Amino acid sequence: PLRLDIKRKLTARSDRVKSVDLHPTEPWMLASLYNGSVCVWNHETQTLVKTFEVCDLPVRAAKFVARKNWVVTGADDMQIRVFNYNTLERVHMFEAHSDYIRCIAVHPTQPFILTSSDDMLIKLWDWDKKWSCSQVFEGHTHYVMQIVINPKDNNQFASASLDRTIKVWQLGSSSPNFTLEGHEKGVNCIDYYSGGDKPYLISGADDRLVKIWDYQNKTCVQTLEGHAQNVSCVSFHPELPIIITGSEDGTVRIWHSSTYRLESTLNYGMERVWCVASLRGSNNVALGYDEGSIIVKLGREEPAMSMDANGKIIWAKHSEVQQANLKAMGDAEIKDGERLPLAVKDMGSCEIYPQTIQHNPNGRFVVVCGDGEYIIYTAMALRNKSFGSAQEFVWAHDSSEYAIRESNSVVKIFKNFKEKKSFKPDFGAEGIYGGFLLGVRSVNGLAFYDWENTELIRRIEIQPKHIFWSDSGELVCIATEESFFILKYLSEKVAAAQETHEGVTEDGIEDAFEVLGEIQEIVKTGLWVGDCFIYTSSVNRLNYYVGGEIVTIAHLDRTMYLLGYIPKDNRLYLGDKELNIVSYSLLVSVLEYQTAVMRRDFSMADKVLPTIPKEQRTRVAHFLEKQGFKQQALAVSTDPEHRFELALQLGELKIAYQLAVEAESEQKWKQLAELAISKCQFGLAQECLHHAQDYGGLLLLATASGNANMVNKLAEGAEKDGKNNVAFMSYFLQGKLDSCLELLIKTGRLPEAAFLARTYLPSQVSRVVKLWRENLSKVNQKAAESLADPTEYENLFPGLKEAFVAEEYVKQSLDDLRPAREYPLVTPNEERNLLEEAKGFEPSGVMAPQTLLDLEDDLDNLDLEDIDTTDINLDEEILDE
Ligand SMILES: *[C@@H]1O[C@H](CO)[C@@H](O)[C@H](O)[C@H]1NC(C)=O
Ligand SMILES: *[C@@H]1O[C@H](CO)[C@@H](O)[C@H](O)[C@H]1NC(C)=O
Ligand SMILES: *[C@@H]1O[C@H](CO)[C@@H](O)[C@H](O)[C@H]1NC(C)=O
Ligand SMILES: *[C@@H]1O[C@H](CO)[C@@H](O)[C@H](O)[C@H]1NC(C)=O
Ligand SMILES: *[C@@H]1O[C@H](CO)[C@@H](O)[C@H](O)[C@H]1NC(C)=O
Ligand SMILES: *[C@@H]1O[C@H](CO)[C@@H](O)[C@H](O)[C@H]1NC(C)=O
Repeated sequence: PLRLDIKRKLTARSDRVKSVDLHPTEPWMLASLYNGSVCVWNHETQTLVKTFEVCDLPVRAAKFVARKNWVVTGADDMQIRVFNYNTLERVHMFEAHSDYIRCIAVHPTQPFILTSSDDMLIKLWDWDKKWSCSQVFEGHTHYVMQIVINPKDNNQFASASLDRTIKVWQLGSSSPNFTLEGHEKGVNCIDYYSGGDKPYLISGADDRLVKIWDYQNKTCVQTLEGHAQNVSCVSFHPELPIIITGSEDGTVRIWHSSTYRLESTLNYGMERVWCVASLRGSNNVALGYDEGSIIVKLGREEPAMSMDANGKIIWAKHSEVQQANLKAMGDAEIKDGERLPLAVKDMGSCEIYPQTIQHNPNGRFVVVCGDGEYIIYTAMALRNKSFGSAQEFVWAHDSSEYAIRESNSVVKIFKNFKEKKSFKPDFGAEGIYGGFLLGVRSVNGLAFYDWENTELIRRIEIQPKHIFWSDSGELVCIATEESFFILKYLSEKVAAAQETHEGVTEDGIEDAFEVLGEIQEIVKTGLWVGDCFIYTSSVNRLNYYVGGEIVTIAHLDRTMYLLGYIPKDNRLYLGDKELNIVSYSLLVSVLEYQTAVMRRDFSMADKVLPTIPKEQRTRVAHFLEKQGFKQQALAVSTDPEHRFELALQLGELKIAYQLAVEAESEQKWKQLAELAISKCQFGLAQECLHHAQDYGGLLLLATASGNANMVNKLAEGAEKDGKNNVAFMSYFLQGKLDSCLELLIKTGRLPEAAFLARTYLPSQVSRVVKLWRENLSKVNQKAAESLADPTEYENLFPGLKEAFVAEEYVKQSLDDLRPAREYPLVTPNEERNLLEEAKGFEPSGVMAPQTLLDLEDDLDNLDLEDIDTTDINLDEEILDE
């Protein structure tokens, strides 16, 4: 049988529907009702979008005139009304007949409509001539129920009448050309066959019969019996090889238009069927019932097309097989997603209505399936090689082998066009899948069989929609209604198990597959390139999966079907149901590289790498990083940011250092400093902190390492850069109290300077107080005057003289800087009494320049300003001491 998918797209309950029509471009269905209303439904949104209250009597006819934005109605009040469907305004109205109006036909090109009526007349109206009646067609002797214009000759039309006849008319001639007689009761409906090959008309009548007529030799070529009541509507589908008939018995029947076999009977329980409408270029069919209207979508979504490895595409346009060759395009520039300008060659017509076309793996043959039949043709000349009946056909991985599903229980395997084996899978066969293993679906799940001996390899509890094997047979994608799984096929384990019979259960070999991943996406079409699985998804994405990662190649604007990948072009090819071919760029080198990485074959990866263009390297590097190969990612990436990140993660100080130098970014220096510190590379850390202008960090580093020299440099540098807090702290830590004091004065911190002097440098108090006073007097004379200079009021500052001595005494010991390791030997300040210690001290006036000679010489290269970055020895442990 014809494998037709029938999907209900809209159910609109309403009063009795007497006519339906489909808009050619909008997603609209027009329904005229017995109660006098006319409705427009949007079948995409399932909503009623417009209503016209026409009159109180039945409206038996309504049609769109899309080129005028009109709806034209004919009702039992004998009036034709014209509405603008955008404004809902009535544009025109006139009395057309002297009885009920039964039908309206719109001329496809001229400004004409034809109307038929119970007054037994057909009239032609010209809207460009103010809706004048240009012609009356007289001849029927009873109600004229329907009229249709011949799609192959717009000057001819046919009419069906309750006088039991069909008449064919010519515009311009008021009497009929001829009459077809054969029905035993009134004829309700009529339609033309629109294909070029047959001069056929179809009619349905109250005798419950449907008749097919050859209007050239004027004979009835077929009578379709089956309806149990008056036949009310008939349609030759303009696209699909089917006839649709509706009857007062409540059913819609679908018949094969060449074999006249009844394919399907639809009963939606909406009582009597009154009308049907189908549309060229669409698979939607509208049906009108007593209780409302329905839209069903018929046929297969996917176009019948296939491409071989060399870019030859074969497709079926209805029954005609055509070929297009990508190679023939020459060097025309191709843009992603743009329709390819292909020259199409007719290859002849096929004896069956093709629903699928599939090349075999080596491309020498194509199999065409449809109507429960298959024919294998040579791909070059479309010569038939073999044929037979089958519910389904699949190619094996080996080009000479294929399998057919003969019924729900029998599967047959052929080799070199000869039947090799017929077998009945346990649990039956509801679907078969080709490729490396033969897949058979049953209610119990999926079973994989060995092509060679039909031994069960593994049963899996899954209901697959599609199965895609990689060329190597190592990987397989099983796609279901909700998600897809990537499995690895472990052929060695299978071979071992077959040998030893260990690990073999009634469900096959337990270790045959390993699940690598499940992705919650619905795969529509897919193919493998190496270890990369490329697919289109239900949300129109073109993606590929590799090593657990999904990469999006493109967002498609409509449903597209993958045809194949041509490595030479670095392009993926896809087709849509209008048989347009588009392509997207996808570099084979990138896919090869990723495949090599997935196989841990880094020598292969290294070989491929030079062929990957520079601008793709970073993408590849991100892939490597995600797979955990950071070292390789660092080697491959060309993006400095990415490389720096990787270098940090890998602790690659030299590379990170180089990148930081190039980037001149404070942030990078800070990050690198942290890493350097954690790796005890203090020399480097110091340089980084310096570049990052991180004085706080430098201070921490200098003091923590007990490096007086560095503290000193830091103090000077910080003061120069105005980092006063750090400068103060650095001076203070070195005991350079004079510098501390000068810093406070310089920065206008006079009160603080005064107190610093009072505590540590009594000899300076007088000077500072003077400055403080001067300054304060500018704002508050009185307050300034109340500041006392200790030298002027010795009585108020007892022990001042002793303090001067102690200051000199301490200065000596301060200059005597001692290495950090002596810290435990030093008496803490709070435990000392300087006045006591300084008793009897004679200031010499000459300071012994005893400095940090004890400190290691290495520390000398910790120069703040001009460190020589080129020969930093990163392995040197500067602070061993
Ligand atoms: C006719 O029926 C439709 C749907 O059943 C309803 O929306 C409409 O109002 C009715 N019209 C009249 C004139 O009763
Ligand atoms: C129908 O009749 C008209 C005029 O009588 C004639 O010109 C025309 O060729 C005829 N067409 C057919 C299909 O017989
Ligand atoms: C169905 O056919 C019979 C017999 O011709 C006729 O009497 C009856 O009116 C028809 N039904 C309708 C609804 O037209
Ligand atoms: C009329 O043509 C059809 C083919 O369309 C053919 O099957 C039939 O036998 C012909 N009838 C006569 C009477 O020539
Ligand atoms: C196959 O081809 C032969 C002759 O070339 C033809 O007679 C036959 O009808 C064809 N069969 C099918 C099923 O295409
Ligand atoms: C005077 O004191 C103010 C704060 O009181 C300070 O901002 C200013 O810098 C000082 N001037 C001098 C010359 O020290």
